[in-house]
Amino acid sequence: MLTCFGLCSLKQKLLILICLSISSLWFILQIPIYEPQFQRINSTFSSASSCRDALHSSRKDGVERTPTARQIYCSMKKNHVAFLKVHKAGSTTIMNIFIRFAIQNKLNIVLPKRTSGYGFNYIGYEDTVRLKNIVPLPYNETYDILCNHVLYEREAFQSILPKDTVNIGIIREPSSHMMSAGTYYGLYHGLLKHAAAMGLSKANIVSEFLENPFHWNVSTAFVHNRMSFDLGLERESFYNETEIERLLKTLDEDFSLIMLMEYFDESLVLMKRILCWETKDIIYVPLNTLQRGASFSLKSDDIKNLKKWNYADYRLYEHFQKVFWDKVHAEGSDFFLEVQEYKLILKQIKRYCAEVEADDTNSELEPLYISESPWSKEFQTTSHDCLVMTADELPLLRSLIRIAWKRFTSASK
Ligand SMILES: *[C@@H]1O[C@H](CO)[C@@H](O)[C@H](O)[C@H]1NC(C)=O
Ligand SMILES: *[C@@H]1O[C@H](CO)[C@@H](O)[C@H](O)[C@H]1NC(C)=O
Ligand SMILES: *[C@@H]1O[C@H](CO)[C@@H](O)[C@H](O)[C@H]1NC(C)=O
Repeated sequence: MLTCFGLCSLKQKLLILICLSISSLWFILQIPIYEPQFQRINSTFSSASSCRDALHSSRKDGVERTPTARQIYCSMKKNHVAFLKVHKAGSTTIMNIFIRFAIQNKLNIVLPKRTSGYGFNYIGYEDTVRLKNIVPLPYNETYDILCNHVLYEREAFQSILPKDTVNIGIIREPSSHMMSAGTYYGLYHGLLKHAAAMGLSKANIVSEFLENPFHWNVSTAFVHNRMSFDLGLERESFYNETEIERLLKTLDEDFSLIMLMEYFDESLVLMKRILCWETKDIIYVPLNTLQRGASFSLKSDDIKNLKKWNYADYRLYEHFQKVFWDKVHAEGSDFFLEVQEYKLILKQIKRYCAEVEADDTNSELEPLYISESPWSKEFQTTSHDCLVMTADELPLLRSLIRIAWKRFTSASK
């Protein structure tokens, strides 16, 4: 690993350093990894001050700075969370949030056992969470956070996670999900190959497929009601009204929040409130996966056909769209002010992290200082934070798995 130092990029070097410091500091010296530095450091970025001005002006609009009932009620952050990572719904970015939270608070993540091989990053590939598939814990410890790919099943989750675990999910508008998952998981590529072999026009191939999706020999596992499937609906029940109703009822009972990818920041602010977290716990830099475009689009007839084929996913989305907005409206009028402020903070962080990325002087940039607001304490973001926020999912996951194994084996000696 160290031989890479002469060859690899600054970002890779720093990621290696992060991983080395996670393992050496956390598990040998047993001290917190991201020890907060409390001195105030003025940001050198002019954008930061104009953002701060904007924030102050929103405060003048009548938002009280006295502690609200929520802040008092929210004295304890929720540390037991299961985030159901649904494919192609922005959940890699959210998983990164949970991993950072777990590292910072020294929590145990439910991790898959292997560090390589097809689908190694799934806790359950076409399966729910099982003890035999996850890295074991030292005696008497509990799993705190689950945030990898796995199918939801109430009994399995309850048997592995603490009783007070908060379940959170995310879904996406089904036609945009189809375009993204159909591009990413090879459906479109498969259809083009068929078109070439059968002399069909490539331009209409998706429309032809959607007219009769069951008659094509292409892989549809990730595009056929996949969100409902990940959330616990079995394939044979995709068109069974009783089972779909049962799924919605189970999710209503078990999940404190199902986020909507289209309202990503609103979703995260709602999550912050539900989990009693702080703004610093939900900051992110959008990972590429969120922006990658689709290779095809859908016409209105295609969408009509998709609604039949992905009936369960449409039902799921319609239901949880309503539940989502009901929750938002129950939050009261300052919710959107908080979202507005959160977006400004994210903009500053994105700009700061871009500077960190572009900086090749090998010296650490000064931390970015984010001032206090009616909704959160002051905090800082460091260049180190940027590197973890922008770290690639799989290498980060691999190092976490290795560290968890090391912890287990050294504890059982
Ligand atoms: C394990 O947990 C139980 C209950 O929380 C506690 O009473 C016991 O002392 C713990 N044992 C060890 C070895 O930590
Ligand atoms: C479907 O495609 C797979 C792989 O491309 C092939 O092995 C299989 O025989 C095909 N099945 C049918 C029914 O054509
Ligand atoms: C739908 O699900 C219900 C409840 O599990 C079952 O009794 C029924 O047979 C299913 N209907 C069909 C058509 O499979």
